[in-house]
Amino acid sequence: MLLPVPDVLNAEEITWVRSLLNSAPWVDGRISAGPQAAQVKNNAQLPHDCEAARTLRPLILKALDRQARVFSAALPKRVLAPSFNRYTSDGANFYGPHVDSALRYAPEGGQRVRTDISCTLFLSDPQDYDGGELILHDTHGDQHIKLPAGHLVLYPGTSVHQVAPVTRGTRLACFFWMESMVRSTEQRRLLFDMDNHLIHLRSTVGETDAAVIGLTATYHNLLRMWADS
Ligand code: NI
Repeated sequence: MLLPVPDVLNAEEITWVRSLLNSAPWVDGRISAGPQAAQVKNNAQLPHDCEAARTLRPLILKALDRQARVFSAALPKRVLAPSFNRYTSDGANFYGPHVDSALRYAPEGGQRVRTDISCTLFLSDPQDYDGGELILHDTHGDQHIKLPAGHLVLYPGTSVHQVAPVTRGTRLACFFWMESMVRSTEQRRLLFDMDNHLIHLRSTVGETDAAVIGLTATYHNLLRMWADS
């Protein structure tokens, strides 16, 4: 499932994030790529332990916590520490087709995280750069994604994807992965749909309607059956 989530960061937060990133010590993005992905990766990335990354990570995670839709769609069990990347036209940056590693290790503590869901938080305004679309290749054809600054997209960790060459300006983004409590994409999708319909139903017929209570019980019982917490 591809899920855009608008306004994860507000305008003030975006300005602050960009000011930190503009003076940050960027390094070659291949530091975090496996041997296959490294062949097609040409961008810059923030070192995990630099001050800007350490300052920004809690802000991103807190902003994520405010998003009930992200929780409902992803049912996160673990979230890998957010990273930051930069694509510039001067650097002729791009990231060719690749698949993200199924397992990644948290930089602190080395905990293993299965990358069920990939996340990109756009930090540059689309009018400030050309190219730089996140392109997902799936069975329904290619999807081109370029969202306003502060918007997030969740997409399946299983997909082959790429970032198109940036031909003008600079594209800043934050990226990270989630392991879900519900491993199956289909089950996660059913729970997300059901939760959305329940939200609608609760607002129209009320919290105490017998069918609402019954369906809420079904939702939680499915989650209880499928979740590995
Ligand atoms: Ni990737």
